[in-house]
Amino acid sequence: QDSYKITLLPGDGIGPEITTATVKALVAAGKTKGVTFDFDEQLLGGCAIDKEGTPWPDKTLKSCQAADSILMAAIGGPKWDGNPRELRPETGLLAMRQQLGLFANLRPAKAIPQLLDASSLKREVVEGVDIMVVRELCGDVYFGKPAGIYTDDAGVRWGQNNMIYSEPEIERIARVAMDVAQKRQGRCCSIDKANVLDVSQLWKDVVIRVHGECGQGVELSHMYVDNAAMQLVRWPKQFDTIVCGNIFGDILSDEASMLVGSLGMLPSASLPSEGPGVFEPIHGSAPDIAGTDAANPLAMILSAAMMCQYDLLQPDLAKLLEDAVEAVLDAGYRTRDIVNEGNADETLVGCKEMGDLVAAKVAELA
Ligand code: NAD
Ligand code: IPM
Ligand code: MN
Repeated sequence: QDSYKITLLPGDGIGPEITTATVKALVAAGKTKGVTFDFDEQLLGGCAIDKEGTPWPDKTLKSCQAADSILMAAIGGPKWDGNPRELRPETGLLAMRQQLGLFANLRPAKAIPQLLDASSLKREVVEGVDIMVVRELCGDVYFGKPAGIYTDDAGVRWGQNNMIYSEPEIERIARVAMDVAQKRQGRCCSIDKANVLDVSQLWKDVVIRVHGECGQGVELSHMYVDNAAMQLVRWPKQFDTIVCGNIFGDILSDEASMLVGSLGMLPSASLPSEGPGVFEPIHGSAPDIAGTDAANPLAMILSAAMMCQYDLLQPDLAKLLEDAVEAVLDAGYRTRDIVNEGNADETLVGCKEMGDLVAAKVAELA
């Protein structure tokens, strides 16, 4: 196949800026291999609330279902934070994940040699880090019922969410984790809070069973989430593959991004058991820098690379984009989140210029 239908979801905040940069780089990469993309841009999140009155319009779902793959930027922002739950951008994102069955969220955190000094941690701590967080994405406290804010008979208000997992939900993500670990260094650490939470005890029991059934060659370990948060910054090289539930994975992957140097560097793949996946940076819409051309588009460009690898089955395109990103960093170009001010070897660039640089490098490397 040499032409692909891609649903494009620019979303809110910095979303449109990083999308423009990413499309430019992706199209340039495709061009070198005779691959073209038919982009169908659709509304998701706050922009969809404003234009369609819902964060997850039917038209967007239909486009996603008809696509070869889905490329997303980020959604959300203070403008919609006071809305009722069903009119929040985040509700649209969660509905998309659930309706497309995107239960397996792969979030790689791999140190980039050129960015070792961009991390807030010491060079020797982050050099050589290569972690894959396998985050369950369709369950947990995000979706557990009952949920809401209630007032009891005494007039006291209660906020409630329910951390809940079924055995089949744990089993399918554990299988993905074993498969991922087998293709990596063969070490899988399952993160839980089984010392306190029943849902975590079930998680741990099921992961152990699945490991016994299909984890050949995988060394399985377990860690409580509080310790894991500490170990990630103490000595991250102890981790290879991490598997965890939705909320722990959300938090730990943002933490892991700092091992690479910036939240603006981490891509992700959200994969279903069948159908198209969604490829999105792990960061949000960064309202604090939206509209200033300061955003780092590399997390989304690297997400496009993951799309080429996982959904389009074009590993050469993925490699080309990754190599181009590394070459641009090697040449010293940095967005504001990864620049070391005062370093004469580095050149501060904006979001748009970073996209242009990667696109130019792709053509040069091909
Ligand atoms: P955020 O990830 O948007 O930003 C956190 C910090 O990181 C900010 O200082 C931001 O400027 C910086 N940052 C993030 N991405 C960057 C990039 N590409 N380049 C440079 N700097 C970057 O998290 P937040 O501020 O807690 O949330 C803002 C909004 O984004 C909220 O509405 C939240 O719900 C939403 N959100 C959406 C997604 C998503 O769409 N998948 C993910 C996380 C947060
Ligand atoms: C992410 C985000 C989302 C999450 C929010 C915006 C619903 O933080 O993709 O990491 O919590 O999953
Ligand atoms: Mn998050």
